[in-house]
Amino acid sequence: MTWPDNGASAAARQQMAADLADGHWNDWIDAFSAIPRHVFVPCFYQQNAEGAWQPVTWGEPGYLEAVYSDEALTTQLDDHGVPTSSSSQPSVMLRMLDALDAEDGHRVLELGAGTGYNAALLAHRLGASDVTSIDIDYELVKAAVRHLEVVGLRPTVVVGDGAQGWPSRAPYDRVIATVGLHTIPQQLLQQAVPGAVIVVPLGYGIVRVTVTGPGHAVGRFLDTPAFFMARRSSGAPPQFDEAAQQPPTDSSVPPADLLGRLKFPASIALPGYNSCSWKDDEGNLEAVGVWTPDGSTATAHASGAVRQCGPQRLWDTVEHLARVFEGAPAREEFRVTITPTKQTVSYGDVGGASWDLPASP
Ligand SMILES: C[S@@+](CC[C@H](N)C(=O)[O-])C[C@H]1O[C@@H](n2cnc3c(N)ncnc32)[C@H](O)[C@@H]1O
Repeated sequence: MTWPDNGASAAARQQMAADLADGHWNDWIDAFSAIPRHVFVPCFYQQNAEGAWQPVTWGEPGYLEAVYSDEALTTQLDDHGVPTSSSSQPSVMLRMLDALDAEDGHRVLELGAGTGYNAALLAHRLGASDVTSIDIDYELVKAAVRHLEVVGLRPTVVVGDGAQGWPSRAPYDRVIATVGLHTIPQQLLQQAVPGAVIVVPLGYGIVRVTVTGPGHAVGRFLDTPAFFMARRSSGAPPQFDEAAQQPPTDSSVPPADLLGRLKFPASIALPGYNSCSWKDDEGNLEAVGVWTPDGSTATAHASGAVRQCGPQRLWDTVEHLARVFEGAPAREEFRVTITPTKQTVSYGDVGGASWDLPASP
């Protein structure tokens, strides 16, 4: 045993695996019960009551319980205290790994190596030589390789922009991303064999597509709600000052709808969508803000006043979604069709509502 293990960690790991299995043991549950998550997350960050981030490490109260709970754990913060890497929520990881339908001999590319934990699960199940994992952050890759070595696994872990794939180890039978994307990059399709399965977080959902030919794929969203840390790329911050100077228009869509029933469709119809909210002193929702990486920004007040600026009229799209959907639409009703020149998400039967995803990642 080359990693700290005090019996409590082994017991906690087995308990987490049993909870994840929920009576249905499979190869991935074997991997969760074999791979010690605490080796990959020697430290995570937790916000205290004031919102300040505190590190929690091995041996500290609550550490083991958190590491072997079904929680995403923040593992890296930038200079402004914004999370930039995390160990994803185990049940969501399991759902994605199950959806991958990976078999012995499959070559897998993972986007978003992070701590290396998911790469370890893949390597345990499929063999390290068939696993390639990529992260944009050199320091994270160094740490992931170290963690993997501790548990005796040596998949290929490289530094790069996952949206470009990793051509030198292609072709891949399976591609999985644990970082949020706005579109499914053509590069991933080009580096995949026909019939390959690609599982990727998109907006507030996870999409699973099958490659049907060069540059072509079809699939649909899983029913699982999920939100992953967005792929690191430059994007404009929200333009709230500029929006505040615009003349207000009236909207009958309650701001709460954007954070509730319309959250998933808005995240698809407005790729790269971000939102925030403001509350009054009693904690009631006063207004919401929404913006996209091109700097388009909208604010909607509980009074019905909407202000918008930038190249896209974001709230107009929210109003359109409010007309299309009576309640919260089920994720699995959204289909994805990819061709070399276009990616479309469509809802319901042929002829229903549809939205184009951006052409480039
Ligand atoms: C949720 S974490 C991944 C968790 C990881 N699979 C694990 O098991 O710990 C998302 C990761 O995506 C990485 N990332 C962000 N932008 C990226 C990009 N353009 N290409 C590759 N990785 C990226 C971040 O550095 C971060 O480590």
